Order: sequence, then structure tokens, then C-alpha cells
Amino acid sequence: MEKMIIKTKNLSKKYKHSTVVDNISLEVRQGEIYGFLGPNGAGKTTTIRMLLGLIKSSNGEIRINGKSVDKNRIEVLKNVGSLVESPSYYGNLTAFENLKIIAKVRKIPDIRINEVLQIVGLNMAGNKLAKNFSLGMKQRLGIGAAILGKPELLILDEPTNGLDPSGIEEIRELIKSFPEKYGMTIIISSHLLSEIDRIATHVGIINKGRLIFQGEMSSLRNLNESCIHFHVEEIEKTQMLLTDRKIKFANHSNGFVISKTGYKEVAAINKLLVENKINIYRIEEQKESLEKIFLNLIRKDEENNVDLGSNRL
Ligand SMILES: Nc1ncnc2c1ncn2[C@@H]1O[C@H](COP(=O)(O)OP(=O)(O)OP(=O)(O)O)[C@@H](O)[C@H]1O
Ligand SMILES: [Mg+2]
Repeated sequence: MEKMIIKTKNLSKKYKHSTVVDNISLEVRQGEIYGFLGPNGAGKTTTIRMLLGLIKSSNGEIRINGKSVDKNRIEVLKNVGSLVESPSYYGNLTAFENLKIIAKVRKIPDIRINEVLQIVGLNMAGNKLAKNFSLGMKQRLGIGAAILGKPELLILDEPTNGLDPSGIEEIRELIKSFPEKYGMTIIISSHLLSEIDRIATHVGIINKGRLIFQGEMSSLRNLNESCIHFHVEEIEKTQMLLTDRKIKFANHSNGFVISKTGYKEVAAINKLLVENKINIYRIEEQKESLEKIFLNLIRKDEENNVDLGSNRL
């Protein structure tokens, strides 16, 4: 089993009377790209700030590499690079000069600065001042600063926010290459499922401060309820046949739909229709989109919590 890099236990953050992060237990293992997904205001940035020791948790524990962040903050965070919300930089300095400032404080040799500029694709930016950078270049500079110290763990809060599609693609490919090339583990937050789907190996979904799903991207996809759509010629006759045989189905404009089922049942229905001389034009599996799975999870979470509320009354 891969080494646990981040483990939180019942992590919570309360502001006055509102709980913005509610008892979350994150698990991120070595080499994962962990997509931290949630709608605006779900608590992603707040959680990330707690992971980085930038704000105090109200309750719970955070362990990075097995060590408590509370008790060993400096030691633990030495191996963590981060970019939270928009990158900060000195506008009147070049990319090299910006990184040089960080390198000096952290006693990192210049050779690493050049290496990083190459990695993030800013080696050609030369004497251009950071204030004249495009948004994508600024983001690259922020990522460069985050990886300067060769961190084992990289935490990126919405690194593609505000970028155009080609900028998003470039940053995505850059980040995706890190685990294999440099052995990094990555947490990347986003409010876009499509983005997480393209980049992450694992996903944690947060809604109103609650972690409502955590696991492999593929197990999220497996939550979908597929159904089988039969496109047939004589719809009424078909419906009568199915009703006679007590086969459950739903009407569809050009045929009918049955819920997720085994191949044998599909074959049996197909045979029944053929024997009754009904022309079948198409049999296809229809899967829910990932977006729908995400929305369903959120809806279920909110229903459950409304129920809890009403039970208490
Ligand atoms: N300092 C604070 N005081 C009070 N409430 C706060 C504070 N910081 C954040 N919140 C609230 O916590 C909730 C979660 O905010 P957070 O920034 O973590 O969300 P997010 O998931 O990062 O959203 P986004 O996708 O918009 O970046 C919000 O309702 C926000 O208003
Ligand atoms: Mg945020």
C-alpha cells in the first residue's frame, strides 16, 4: 500500500456560528493527484489553508507524512510547496529575480532557479517584468515558486482559475507530469468536475464543508446508473408485450428504456422482440454524465442533512 502523505481526522473550522469545514477526514497517498472538488464556498480554500498551517483548525488533526502539522509545523511544511488562490509576485522583477528572492531565503542554488524556469516554461521570458506577464505566465511563476524547493507534496488551489482553454490545457499537462517525473504527490482544488476528471487520479468532493465522496476517479465514475435504451419500430405493440411479460420499463419517444441489467436480460428482451417480429433499430447503454453523478451526490447530501434537521424538531 502506498504511503499516506496527508491524513486529517475530523478536521473542522468554525467561524462564529457557522461551520465551514465539517469533520472531514482526508486521505491522500503518495503519487496521487488528488482532486479536491466542490462548488464555490464549499470550504476548499479553508481546508487547504488549514493543511498549510495558515489558519488554525477549530477541531481535529492533520498529519502530513505521519507527523502532526500542529506540533511540527516548520519541519513538516519544508517538504510542501503551495499555490493558494492567485500567485503573489513582484511586478517590477523578472521571473528569475522573483524566484531568486525565494531561493535566497531558502538557500537554494541559482542552478535550481534555471531548472525550474525550464520546467514551468518561463526560461524564454528573459527580461520581461512579471507585471507584463499574461495570466498563464503568472500562474507558471506561482507554480515555479511552489516547486523551487523540490517539495514532496504540492498543494494547488484552483491553479487554472481564469485561464483560457489553451492556458488550462498547458498548466494541466505541466501538473500532470510532476508525480512521475519528480515523485510528487499533488492536491489540486477546483469547482469544475471536468477539470478534475482530466487531471486527477483520486477525488474528494466537498459540499457545505462536508466530505461527501472520497476515492479513485474510476469509482466515482462507477457510481453512475446506466440504463439500456431500445430503439424499436412498433412502440405500442412492444409496450404491450413487455407489460404482459411483467418486464419493468420506462417509455421513450422512440422505444423504451430498462434500468441497469445483466447481458442475459438484454438478450432475452431482444429475442422476445424478434420473435414477435418487431424491428429493432438500436440497443444502447446510456450512462449518466459525470456531471450528473456529482450533482446527484450533492443533492443526496443536502437531502440527508435536511432530514437530519427535521428529525431533530
Ligand atoms: N475569515 C472568514 N470568516 C468567516 N467566514 C469565512 C471566512 N473565510 C471563509 N469563510 C466562509 O467559509 C466558506 C468556505 O469558503 P472557502 O473560501 O473555503 O470556499 P471555497 O470552496 O474555496 O470556494 P471557492 O470555489 O469560491 O474558492 C464560505 O461560506 C466563506 O464565506
Ligand atoms: Mg477557494
